[in-house]
Amino acid sequence: MRVQYEELIKVAQSAKRRAYAPYSKFRVGAALLTSSGQIYSGCNIEISTYALTLCAERTAIFKAVSEGEKKFKAIAVVSDDPQYIPPCGACRQVLMDLAGNIDFIMVNGKGAGKVVKLAKLLPYAFGKKNLLRTRKKRKS
Ligand code: THU
Repeated sequence: MRVQYEELIKVAQSAKRRAYAPYSKFRVGAALLTSSGQIYSGCNIEISTYALTLCAERTAIFKAVSEGEKKFKAIAVVSDDPQYIPPCGACRQVLMDLAGNIDFIMVNGKGAGKVVKLAKLLPYAFGKKNLLRTRKKRKS
């Protein structure tokens, strides 16, 4: 594991402390590394209507994109689960769209990380390319 990734895991662990998970009690922290070396953290934020809940990964990437970031390298995700934590389907799509085939670092309860390429977690991904192929050219 690269030193930079160890650091990313530590940032994700401290973001987990800020998780707002009164319903599931499942606390998650994420840390997203940009190509220029900046780190954006995120935690899960639960809403009483459940469906509006935001996962830690999406909190982190929406923060980064809203600050003008466009290129990413990796994201580390931690929880209190002793097992490695994989991302939900919605986060896989959002990360693929906005960050591309980055390293996804799944972390277990002991703080050990396992690096998996996002394309492996989301094979045959739908994306911008599919929309651009069928969109008719319009005069502006
Ligand atoms: N959750 C995340 O934040 N990231 C994941 O990768 C999996 C699930 C959150 C959403 C919800 O607040 C709680 O964990 C239980 O699903």
